[in-house]
Amino acid sequence: MREFIEEKIREIRETVGSKKAIIALSGGVDSSTAAILAHKAIGDKLYAVFVNTGLLRKGEPEFVVKTFKEDFGLNLIYVDAQKRFFDALRGIVDPEQKRKVIGKVFIDLFEEVAKDIGAEFLIQGTIAPDWIESKGGIKSHHNVGGLPERLNLKIIEPLRDLYKDEVRELAKELGLPEKIYRRMPFPGPGLAARVVGEVTPEKVRIVREANAIVEEEIEKAQLKPWQAFAVLLGVKTVGVQGDIRAYKETIALRVVESLDGMTANAMNVPFEVLQRIAFRIVSEIPEVGRVLYDVTNKPPATIEFE
Ligand code: XMP
Repeated sequence: MREFIEEKIREIRETVGSKKAIIALSGGVDSSTAAILAHKAIGDKLYAVFVNTGLLRKGEPEFVVKTFKEDFGLNLIYVDAQKRFFDALRGIVDPEQKRKVIGKVFIDLFEEVAKDIGAEFLIQGTIAPDWIESKGGIKSHHNVGGLPERLNLKIIEPLRDLYKDEVRELAKELGLPEKIYRRMPFPGPGLAARVVGEVTPEKVRIVREANAIVEEEIEKAQLKPWQAFAVLLGVKTVGVQGDIRAYKETIALRVVESLDGMTANAMNVPFEVLQRIAFRIVSEIPEVGRVLYDVTNKPPATIEFE
């Protein structure tokens, strides 16, 4: 791992030279690791752009700014683009279309920021499963597939040959906080991949709250799945509240075990834990009236719903 770090630092330093590079930092393990690696190589010539898409997990924007700007001293540019993403997503239902729209807004923003900075290089935290699955046409992972030539930036992908467990090891070696290297994978399109159908700020707020409850309870139960999250199905079902008929949203829980995300098994989560999660979701989120557990493996189902 040490050798790998030295080699990548040398490579990035030689490639970038006296020019500038930018990276899209999401706070996930892949982009965080790539950013710290690049920061070690080129210091302030690296501009880390953090886009608040409005599709991030609870507390994530604050955490990313604190960790990378204050703790690691990166040149961090915070872009609040929530409205822009929600506007672009209005009326879009098809999962691939959503991914494409999100990818496009991302790239448009990047082009603007990169122009201002005058960067020539784009550092990306792409890992092996990203480009393997994109090549297979399974899902267009926006950090690989959607990058148009017009960006006119030369791409550097230091983690291209690594799998997730190797990236985590690398992150640890680089001194990143445990909260980052132990963090569950999170898709590029963010919570948009966990809202089935049209994405609205209101739906994202619901799935974000539910997701936070899932993460908290899974951690409390000391379970170590590959991923545990909530999905807003966009299906309303009937319930009772007091003596009154209720008609509310349905949340699906997805908890999977996996080695690299390429295949996965639904986790045998203790029933009490599932019930605690369900109880908290329906009591703390007034819009939700029912919680389901997804027991499907990958394949045939993918991990994310969209
Ligand atoms: P799926 O849903 O395809 O996900 O079984 C496999 C793993 O990849 C994550 N994922 C993504 N990661 N950009 C990413 O960087 C994306 O667009 C994306 N979509 C899915 C997913 O969370 C799972 O760990």
